[in-house]
Amino acid sequence: MVKKSKTKNKKSTKKVVKKTKRKKAPEQVFKGLKTRFKVNPKKRIGRLPKLKKVRSRIAASIKIRKIRSKDVIIVLDFGSQYTQLIARRVRENKVYSRIVPYNITADEIREIKPKGIILSGGPLSVYDKKAPMPHKEIFKLDIPILGICYGMQAINHIFGSRVQSSKEREFGRSELFIDNNKDLFVNLPANLTCWMSHSDEIKTLPKGFVKLAHTLNASIAAFTNRAKKIYAVQFHPEVVHTQRGTQVITNFMFHICGCLPRWTMDKFIKATIEQIKEKVGNKKVVLGLSGGVDSSVAAVLIQKAIGKRLHCIFVDNGLLRKNEVVSVQKTFKGNFKMNMVCLNAGKGFLSRLKDIEDPEEKRKIIGDEFIKVFLAKAKKIKNVNFLAQGTLYPDVIESFSPIGGPSEVIKSHHNVGGLPKNLKLELIEPFRELFKDEVRAIGKRLELPETILKRQPFPGPGLAIRIIGEVTKERLEILREADERVLEEIKKAGLYQEVWQSFAILLPIKTVGVMGDQRTYENVIAIRCVSSVDGMTADWSPLAPELLGKMSSRIINEVQGVNRVVYDISSKPPATIEWE
Ligand code: XMP
Repeated sequence: MVKKSKTKNKKSTKKVVKKTKRKKAPEQVFKGLKTRFKVNPKKRIGRLPKLKKVRSRIAASIKIRKIRSKDVIIVLDFGSQYTQLIARRVRENKVYSRIVPYNITADEIREIKPKGIILSGGPLSVYDKKAPMPHKEIFKLDIPILGICYGMQAINHIFGSRVQSSKEREFGRSELFIDNNKDLFVNLPANLTCWMSHSDEIKTLPKGFVKLAHTLNASIAAFTNRAKKIYAVQFHPEVVHTQRGTQVITNFMFHICGCLPRWTMDKFIKATIEQIKEKVGNKKVVLGLSGGVDSSVAAVLIQKAIGKRLHCIFVDNGLLRKNEVVSVQKTFKGNFKMNMVCLNAGKGFLSRLKDIEDPEEKRKIIGDEFIKVFLAKAKKIKNVNFLAQGTLYPDVIESFSPIGGPSEVIKSHHNVGGLPKNLKLELIEPFRELFKDEVRAIGKRLELPETILKRQPFPGPGLAIRIIGEVTKERLEILREADERVLEEIKKAGLYQEVWQSFAILLPIKTVGVMGDQRTYENVIAIRCVSSVDGMTADWSPLAPELLGKMSSRIINEVQGVNRVVYDISSKPPATIEWE
């Protein structure tokens, strides 16, 4: 009995102690939620924060944290043909992405402060002598990492597990079976069709890693080490052939890295206009307007920022297509009321091209003459401090070339417009961070006409590199007329935007023909029409025989000096799109 009462007493003392402690405490801390709310115990009843309020406070605190940090995903380039595609997929989902060399250091990454890191695929095996490896320290940054294909094998290799040459190389479509759909594969079905492209295979996992998915040929097609925030997939989620591949990437960006979708074109436009205003102040900017997508969109964007202090110079080099000079002037001077001059410089170009047949020489002369003409005019405009260009992101990416060193120069077209080193103008390149389709999206928002935004690419050296052999006034005239017929018929057939490019080439030979009862000995025109995604590779378009026939008969009947038309059926590689 005594014992019992003792126990009771003990219990009651405890209760008293607890009660006293509570009373003494000046405030109560509720820890159930991630955010701690302090409440005065005296006013506790009826003062508990309502769930709605709690939620909004949590949301607000998350938002503040996220907005302060920059949402960037970096893509380490191991030389894959799909590296740019990974970066684009991230951006398409409104998070800014940057491509960086595979050997970026941990310190350099710390400076960028990315929310996530993606290791791209690559053409080599991790056992190749030249196999590129990321710095080991990047795995200690506590930033989520996603390895794709070679990226996965590099992670496996670095964490000490072996990669084996697989008996059955897996290229193309494969069925992926998801074994664990917690984070990377959340909200995805149990199996997916995925795109594989590998000959090495991971047989055993490094310590601390677990399998996430497999295929019939690859027992480990995805893995993770959640504690280290490392994820990897053997397949290519960035290519369209992988079913729901984009979701694998967005799961990584949003679920794993905690990014917010805030990279939008409207914000980019607004911010860029502000930056240009601030940078230019009351000075002036010159811009070489060609009527192509990049320089046109750049001109309209800069005009929005500084109005008439933008001076556009349009160099008519005499190598343009039919009606081009008139239509560009109409759009920019007429519709956009731009401060624009058109320099009629054809004669100078033509005289320097006299007797020149070598394609590279032609390109260099045209590039050089352009700079000369352009700068001579720019110098005459007072108070100019800046030169604007429509340079795109693919032109500035410092990428990894598996062959070593910069890729071989096939054609010097990127040198056209190459600026002299002692140029006294500061550069403004608003699209240095953008891909072409992003520039088009900006152009659409800035209400540029489709005729400009959806124009087929046209090379800087113009018709000169479509005239094989010497460029003369007469030969330019023949090509211009023939080209116009090709374009008209392609447009009539509704194919102008379906194909990448469609144009005519004037060959340096004459052949015998018969017109009426007369023998002719005239020029040959070749027609080139290709499909392509980015101009890097291309395939010839199998145009309908009726369409080819129509083009041929129109060119032969309507263009003086042509008696034969041929169709180019070569793909790139091994051919290129332009003939020179
Ligand atoms: P190729 O002939 O190299 O062309 O297969 C690939 C794409 O680039 C265009 N191209 C040029 N674009 N200046 C340009 O702005 C150039 O000198 C130049 N050369 C070729 C070509 O029309 C195709 O779209």
